[in-house]
Amino acid sequence: MNPSQPSLTPEYFDSLYSNDPDPWKFETSEYEAEKYAATLAALPKLRYRSAFEIGGSIGVLTEMLAQRCDSLLSVDVSAQAQNKAIVRCQALPHVHFQLMQVPQDYPNEQFDLTVLSEVGYYWCWEDLQKAQQLMLHHLEPGGHLLLVHWTLYADYYDNPLSGDEVHDAFLALPSSQIKHLRGDRAEHYRLDLFERLL
Ligand SMILES: C[S@@+](CC[C@H](N)C(=O)[O-])C[C@H]1O[C@@H](n2cnc3c(N)ncnc32)[C@H](O)[C@@H]1O
Repeated sequence: MNPSQPSLTPEYFDSLYSNDPDPWKFETSEYEAEKYAATLAALPKLRYRSAFEIGGSIGVLTEMLAQRCDSLLSVDVSAQAQNKAIVRCQALPHVHFQLMQVPQDYPNEQFDLTVLSEVGYYWCWEDLQKAQQLMLHHLEPGGHLLLVHWTLYADYYDNPLSGDEVHDAFLALPSSQIKHLRGDRAEHYRLDLFERLL
C-alpha cells in the first residue's frame, strides 16, 4: 500500500468494469459466496429499517442485503457496475441506487445499518478519515456498521491502504462514539462489526 497515493478514482473503476463486467467474480466465486454468507450471518438484527451500502458494485451482495432491510440505498462510483445492480434488483422496489463518490458526497439520511465491504482500502488516509466521520454522523444510535475487507498482498495492488489499516482505523475511533461488537479474521479477509453509541 502507498499511504501518499490519492484515493482511486471513478475512472479507475470504470476502466476495470469496461475490461470485465465482473472483475472480482462476485457472481461465480465460491470464496465470495462464503464471504457473503458470513457477512449476512454477522448482522445482529434480523431486519434493518434503513440500510446504506457503500460501493455496491454489480449488486450481488446488494441483492442479499435487501432480504434483511425495509429500505436499502446502494451507491457506487461506476455507472457501468451500478446499471447491472439495478437490473439484478429490479424486482426489489425497496432497493434504491445512486451514483455517488464517498466521502465527497454522502446521503442526507440516518441509517441503522451501514455496510462497507471491500471498499475502504481504495481511499487515501484523508478520505478514509472523512468517510469515518460521515458514517458515524449518519448512523443512528444503536445502528450497526459492518466492515469486511480482504487482508492479503496489499503491496501488490494499486490500493492506497490495506484491509488491516482500514479496520484498525475504525478500532481506533473513540469508544464513547462506537462499540466494537465482534471481530473475525478468516484466512483471506477480516470482518468487524460496530454499534453506534448515543
Ligand atoms: C471490490 S468492489 C466491492 C463490491 C461489494 N461491496 C462487495 O463486497 O461485493 C468495490 C466497489 O466500490 C466502488 N467504489 C470505489 N471507491 C468508491 C467510492 N469512493 N465511493 C463509492 N463507491 C466506490 C467501486 O466502483 C467498486 O464497484
